[in-house]
Amino acid sequence: MEKCDLLLLGGVVIDGSGQARHRADVAVHQGVIVAVGDLHHMSADEVVDVGGLVVAPGFIDVHTHDDRLLLADPLMQPKVSQGVTTVITGNCGISLSPLGSHDPVPPLNLVADPTAHRFETFMSYFGALEASPPAVNVASLVGHTTLRVVCMDDVGRAARPDEIARMQALVREALDAGAIGLSTGLYYAPAQAATADEVREVCEPLRGTNALIASHLRNEGDEVLVAMTEAMTIANELGVRQVLSHHKVMGSANFGRSTETLALIDRARGQGDVCLDCYPYTAASTVLRQDAVEQASRTLITWSEASPEASGRYVDDLLKERGGDLTSLLQSLQPAGAIYFIMDEADVERILAYPETMVGSDGLPHDTFPHPRLWGAFPRVLGHYTRDRKLFPLETAVHKMTGLSATRFGLADRGFVRPGYGADLVVFDPDRVADRATFKDPKLCAAGIARVYVNGVLSWHDGASSGARAGRVLRRAVSS
Ligand code: ZN
Ligand code: CU
Repeated sequence: MEKCDLLLLGGVVIDGSGQARHRADVAVHQGVIVAVGDLHHMSADEVVDVGGLVVAPGFIDVHTHDDRLLLADPLMQPKVSQGVTTVITGNCGISLSPLGSHDPVPPLNLVADPTAHRFETFMSYFGALEASPPAVNVASLVGHTTLRVVCMDDVGRAARPDEIARMQALVREALDAGAIGLSTGLYYAPAQAATADEVREVCEPLRGTNALIASHLRNEGDEVLVAMTEAMTIANELGVRQVLSHHKVMGSANFGRSTETLALIDRARGQGDVCLDCYPYTAASTVLRQDAVEQASRTLITWSEASPEASGRYVDDLLKERGGDLTSLLQSLQPAGAIYFIMDEADVERILAYPETMVGSDGLPHDTFPHPRLWGAFPRVLGHYTRDRKLFPLETAVHKMTGLSATRFGLADRGFVRPGYGADLVVFDPDRVADRATFKDPKLCAAGIARVYVNGVLSWHDGASSGARAGRVLRRAVSS
C-alpha cells in the first residue's frame, strides 16, 4: 500500500518485544499499523514528524478499577494522559458487572455507585461500552467478590453447592460475552470466608480455556507465602494462567521478603503459568481498614463519606486534632478509603525488575484525593525507575507495559508496533517523560507524553485530550 491515513516519520521505535530500539517510520491505515521501516515512499492524509521521540505501543494498564469510569467519564484522562490505550477492569474480585442492583458493600464501593451504571450481565456491560465508547480499549475480568454478593444471602460463610452453581453460571455468561478471566480478592471482608475449594469450583468454567485468574492474595503481610501457595494451587489444579495482582510485601516486619516471594514464583513457574503485576510506589491504597493502618508507618485518607473534609489528611494529624482512640476515629470516618505507607523501596524495585512483572496502576478513579498511581504509574516507571534509577533499559520498561502484558492477558493484535497490530501508539520524549502526580497533589498529568493514538485516532496531544473516544471492547479470543 502506498497511501495510508497516517505516517509517523523519523521516530525511534521501541516495539514492545523488549528488543533494542531502531529508527523507523510507522504507517497507519484504518486503525491498523500497516508498515514499519523506511517509509518515505508512502503518502498519507496526515504526516507527523516525530524526530527525536520514541514511538511505542500504547501502554496496557493491566490492573485497574476503571469499570465505571469508562462510562462515567469516557475521556479517561487519568489513563490516556500517561500513554495508556487499554485498561483491564474487574480486578481484586470487584467487577462492576454483574452486580446489578445489589448493595455495593465495601470494597465494591470502590467501583460501583448505588445510583448509576448497574449491569446484571457482561453482555449488557459490553453493550453499554460499545454504545458510548470510552477513549481507551477495555478488557474485563469478572470478580469473585461480586459473584458472592449477587449469589449469597450471607457472605460471612463459604458458599453452598447451589450458590456455587449460580456463580458458575455467571462466570460462563461473562466468558461467553468475552470477559478474559476471573479475579479474586480474598483479602476483603465479603470474600474472606471463601475457601480455596469454593474459589476453585467457581473457576471451573475456566478449565480448558485461555481465560486467566488474577489473584489479590488473602494476605500480603506475614502470611504472604501461605497465601501465594493457596492461590497458585487453585490455578494449577485448573490448569489456567494466573496473574498475582499488585505483588508486594507489607509491613516493616516483612521488608526484604520479596526475595522469598520471587523465589517461590521462580519455582512455581516450573509447574504453572504464573506472572505478576505491580505499581511503582511504596504506598498501597484501598478502603479504610484498621489492620492496614496498624501495619503502615503512616496513613493518608483518600475519601470519607462521613467526614469529607478528612480527604487528603493524615490519620496521625486527625488523631491529634480530634482526640480519642484510633478505633473510634476510623469508625467516625467510615465508609472511607486510604493510602498506606507500608512497603520497602528495595522490595518495590526488586519486584518491578523481575522479568515476569507487568506494570498496572491499581488506580482508584473515584477517590476524592487519590493515590498518585492513578495519574502517574506509567511515566513514573519510564522516568524515575528507568531513566533516573536505571533499574532496567527503556526497552524492558516498555515491554512490561505492552508486549508482555498483551501476551499474558491474551490480547490479540495489541502490545507491539508491528504490521497487522492495532494502531495503539504512544509518542513520548525519553528525556522528559515523568510523573508529576504526588501524595500532596495527586491529579497532575504526566510530562513528556507528546501524542497518544487509540486505534489510529489521535486521543491525547501535548497535555490535552483531543476529545476522541476511539476505544473498543477487546473480547477474549475464543480458543478451540
Ligand atoms: Zn487488589
Ligand atoms: Cu486493585
